[in-house]
Amino acid sequence: MNPRTADLWHHYGRTRADTDREVPAAFYWNWGQDAGPGPEILGDLTDKCVGDLGAGAARHAAYLVTRHHPAQVIAVDASPAQHAMATDLYGHLAPRLRLVHSDVVNHLHARAATYDVLYSVFGAVDFTDPGKLLPAAAAALRPGGRLAFSTLAHYLSGTRAQPDVVPAGIPAKTPDGEPATMRRWVLQEHVWTTALDAAGFTRIDVGVLPATGEGPRTADALLVSAHLPR
Ligand SMILES: C[S@@+](CC[C@H](N)C(=O)[O-])C[C@H]1O[C@@H](n2cnc3c(N)ncnc32)[C@H](O)[C@@H]1O
Repeated sequence: MNPRTADLWHHYGRTRADTDREVPAAFYWNWGQDAGPGPEILGDLTDKCVGDLGAGAARHAAYLVTRHHPAQVIAVDASPAQHAMATDLYGHLAPRLRLVHSDVVNHLHARAATYDVLYSVFGAVDFTDPGKLLPAAAAALRPGGRLAFSTLAHYLSGTRAQPDVVPAGIPAKTPDGEPATMRRWVLQEHVWTTALDAAGFTRIDVGVLPATGEGPRTADALLVSAHLPR
């Protein structure tokens, strides 16, 4: 299989999906998915149009449609495997949960000024050029709309985040198990702030969500939120 076109998210969350089909009991932003702030960061979602950018199995989106009262949550993911997993797990939550198989930049450009809230939990914001994604998100939000995302505060190796908008190649696996690499943007706080400002966002806030465990698989995260001017 050509690693350039292979679905590098084929394996992600597969073991969990075999045994855990429930809508999660909580919504977390942190790396360990076990502590810190929850969906209140998104504001009151009643009757709002909400988009999850890089939703994976759509567990966060399923939580929002079942516990809050949005008009709709649109869970977008470019991975055929993740989209299929989300459809299998939570397809029954349609039409309030809408699962879309698409690259987020293409999707956002086709949805000018339609979203009230966009969010990403270690999702597409981490794996897409911010120079393309952030302006597309700004275009898809209504005036006063909100973007929130969690992202790594440093590499999983412990190496410091980038001082510029520069991606790193990180290890991944093709569906066949062949080694591959994918690009991940791990950026310092001020770099996100500058990029959001350049894309037209205002009231930019960046907080640190500390790691909740020890060892190589834990990490501090950044929780970033920003608004479009009204
Ligand atoms: C680490 S997973 C996180 C999934 C989910 N947010 C969660 O917390 O479980 C990253 C997801 O982002 C998706 N993704 C990355 N870049 C994307 C893009 N440009 N458009 C759509 N989805 C993207 C991947 O397919 C993958 O499912």
